Amino acid sequence: MGVLYHGADYNPDQWLTRPEILEQDIDFMKKAGVNCVSLGIFAWATLEPSEGNYNLDWMEEIIDKLWAAGVHIDLATPSGARPAWMAEKYPEVRRVNADRIRQLFGERHNHCYTSPVYREKVCAINQMLASRFGRHPAVIMWHISNEYGGECHCELCQKAFRKWLKEKYGTIDAVNKAWNAKFWSHEYRDFDQIESPAPHGEHSVHGLKLDWKRFVSYQTIDFMKWERDCIREIVPEAKVCVNMMYHYDGIDYFEQAKDIDLASWDSYPTWHKPGEPLWETALDTALMHDLYYSVKKQPFWLMESTPSYTNWQRVSKPKRPGVQLLTSLQAIAHGSDSVMYFQWRQSQGASEKFHGAVVSHDCREDNRVFRETCDVGAALKAMAEVAGTGKEKQAAIVMDWSNKWALEDSQGPRNIGMGFWQEMQRHYNGLAQNGVSIDFVHPQEALDGYKLVVCPLVYMMSEEFTLRLREYVKNGGTLVVTYWSGVVNETDLVWLYDSPHNLTDVLGVRRLEVDGMFDGEKRACRAVCAGLPETAQGSVLCEVAALEGATPLMVYDEEFYAGAPAVSVNEFGEGKAYYVATRFEKDFYKALYKTVGEGVLESVYPYETEEGVLATRRGEYVFLQNFNDHPAKAGEWTLEKYQTLVLKQTQDGYEKVF
Ligand code: GAL
Repeated sequence: MGVLYHGADYNPDQWLTRPEILEQDIDFMKKAGVNCVSLGIFAWATLEPSEGNYNLDWMEEIIDKLWAAGVHIDLATPSGARPAWMAEKYPEVRRVNADRIRQLFGERHNHCYTSPVYREKVCAINQMLASRFGRHPAVIMWHISNEYGGECHCELCQKAFRKWLKEKYGTIDAVNKAWNAKFWSHEYRDFDQIESPAPHGEHSVHGLKLDWKRFVSYQTIDFMKWERDCIREIVPEAKVCVNMMYHYDGIDYFEQAKDIDLASWDSYPTWHKPGEPLWETALDTALMHDLYYSVKKQPFWLMESTPSYTNWQRVSKPKRPGVQLLTSLQAIAHGSDSVMYFQWRQSQGASEKFHGAVVSHDCREDNRVFRETCDVGAALKAMAEVAGTGKEKQAAIVMDWSNKWALEDSQGPRNIGMGFWQEMQRHYNGLAQNGVSIDFVHPQEALDGYKLVVCPLVYMMSEEFTLRLREYVKNGGTLVVTYWSGVVNETDLVWLYDSPHNLTDVLGVRRLEVDGMFDGEKRACRAVCAGLPETAQGSVLCEVAALEGATPLMVYDEEFYAGAPAVSVNEFGEGKAYYVATRFEKDFYKALYKTVGEGVLESVYPYETEEGVLATRRGEYVFLQNFNDHPAKAGEWTLEKYQTLVLKQTQDGYEKVF
């Protein structure tokens, strides 16, 4: 029987002088069906109050008590925040900003990843924890640091950056060539002349900026590996995870996922936004769940979520009754094997004192948040059999952090924002609304087994990737490529000759011009086929392409490019390739993917479902979730407001699991 984990970030170090509170914690955890906590994420100052003086006894007592109550431990390394003594004695552990100013002590997530002193201190505390608790039966996972991110521009990092460049390019001439550094005479003669981007220094050589982002991601991952390996020196079989973030831009999470056992993420959607239906917020969250399933193509953990409200959003709204259960189970529906919260007990002071938690300041169990947490605990127990099941390969959306970095750094054709995530979301929603199972793939991953591959704003394409896309379509795959794709190579040099690079014959179109659109500016388009909306509006960028064999499905209906394809399809080899020349309004994509998916994609639940009911599948389990605040139908089932139904597919239909 599988296990779905239920729990929270647990920070008992804030309560060590209140034994009655710690006792109540254990009692309440049992009541809420908690079976795992992430322990000691920011506890360094308690674990090592002064240099080399370790104080781990309190943690041992707590781990033993938790374990006696059936609670597993996801044991944290405390590197996300450091004690004041360290910042004071070793300034090099404090980060230097892009303007070259070193930070003062304070806040968190702001250490230098390169500093040998920081690495040494982190290793020492990690090894103390590993020696003491690494083989405790309660410890099933290591929570390495917390939400890695940010960058440091100190001299140590500059040196490490130069070394990284040298290893990547070999010679300074190769660097200059890759970055087109003759531009404005920015050529380098020596690696030592290279500095990270700075507001008062270099910020026009895009290749340099892109490589700096790659280096920061690399160095962060290198630091994570250091933490991991220090633990594994003591406990070779230790399993590790990191918690990733919503839309986080600073780390290539596909790369990071290679070096951990489990991916997890912290999910804080703004539910109940005025004017946005809950199902739409749910799809935004669903995309992230699927992305974090995809980084390892295996079940992930929902590491943090709030049982009620956050305190850092513009306005903090509590989840409406039933929404905690609904949104927690949404994570499970998309491949999570856990529902964890930030945090177990509300802090009494400092910036997170009004952040929601399972146990509120009233210290009572008879309030709504606690009761609803108990409901989640019971539900997870009831559907534990879904744990470990994976998802089916249907559609793949290409996601590449390097591409995003290059796309967003580019000057022109639209400097007021390309709306990368909005573009992703439109394709994602269109597919999800057709009940299609969605993975994200990195361009270096194999595409076999996917019936559809979507390239939204894949501005950067390597030669190798374009060749594989050709093969994929030639062998019967279906491909969708949007505007502003296949424009530059992997060092951000624009591909010469026909574009999208290597794909003009696959798509049957060739890019001619790009019309940047102001916010709110729209370009009328009309359908020239059945199945797509008769009219639609282009925005963001309107790419003008010459038809070279493709069949137009929508055309622009105004401007000097009236009649040019806005959507087209081309047969290539055994497969088909669609080209989408602009960004349409949200509603368009459901129809687009109905057309694209005809005969190609299957719905995970092939029955009529009302708007606002979302269907997903893990293994043989179908999840139907009603995000409407009224009952809604899905096939033969009627779901109550905010209800989740878990069905197991059998030979003759479905059996209700929950
Ligand atoms: C997360 C972080 C937690 C807590 C939470 C509040 O990003 O990992 O420590 O600050 O946000 O929502």
